[in-house]
Amino acid sequence: MSKHLLSIADLDAAELAALLKTAEYFKQARYRGSELRGKTLATIFEKPSLRTRTTLEVATVHLGGHAVYLDAGQIGLGRREPVRDVAENLGRWVEGIAARVNKHETVAGLAEHAGVPVINALSDAHHPLQALADLMTLKEAFGRLQGVRLTYVGDGNNVLASLLEAAALSGVEVTVSTPEGYEPDPGLLERARARFVRDPFEAVRGADAVYTDVWTSMGQEAEAERRLRDFAGYTVTPELMEAADREAIFLHCLPAHYGEEVTEAVAYGPQSRIFDQAENRLHTVKAVLAHYLGGRPWSG
Ligand code: CP
Ligand code: NVA
Repeated sequence: MSKHLLSIADLDAAELAALLKTAEYFKQARYRGSELRGKTLATIFEKPSLRTRTTLEVATVHLGGHAVYLDAGQIGLGRREPVRDVAENLGRWVEGIAARVNKHETVAGLAEHAGVPVINALSDAHHPLQALADLMTLKEAFGRLQGVRLTYVGDGNNVLASLLEAAALSGVEVTVSTPEGYEPDPGLLERARARFVRDPFEAVRGADAVYTDVWTSMGQEAEAERRLRDFAGYTVTPELMEAADREAIFLHCLPAHYGEEVTEAVAYGPQSRIFDQAENRLHTVKAVLAHYLGGRPWSG
């Protein structure tokens, strides 16, 4: 097992299954424990966050620990002092670090030098904490992951990368539909044995779940206008949902830009599971902290 969670590829299938099992137990037990008693998690954010920051802090409290929030601008990560020095310092004081960064190499640099577990709280390349909650939500909806058909419509971004890696380990069958120029890395598609279908209506046919994310991710704001044009036709509308399985659910990592990648009618409609998915961010991150920082055994 890797000491760090920088991407879902740091896990094997058994570890992924163990995290989900722990999260499911935590949810049904409304778990409060002492795995992190006397321990501190440092959280570093270079970008805004609602779900990730809150769930990291609440989960730490539920496990008896303490979280210290560090605004990346304040600590000057990589500017006031090198990433290496921030990591070496924090590693002397805290038992774990979670970091949301602009460049994936920053969180990898923290992991290289901190000497304590480092959790990726989103980078430009990966969002592993999100993918754990996504799988948990699928499992709740369908009672299994193997063979569940999920179609991702939109930008081939960090959220999709982690979802594809999670699919590769769990047997979720992914179909991806993006406009030209926004495809995910072909290696990711291949490892997940995912299908690529350009036309979103064709892509969602038979899907058990339809997933989308914003067209303009944090840090890409300068491209927003061009992206709005390029993604025309990729909005998840009630009509697109109708082309999927009748029982299909809708997922979105949030925050959403309503009227762009999804309409309010879908996001707030009967097929939507977006707030279960957001709730599951808490249970899954609690499992991550219990196993990575709290010494909870991976098996048994
Ligand atoms: N889904 C997600 O990571 O949300 P935040 O950006 O609010 O943390
Ligand atoms: N792709 C989005 C996800 C936000 C949770 C972003 O990186 O901004």
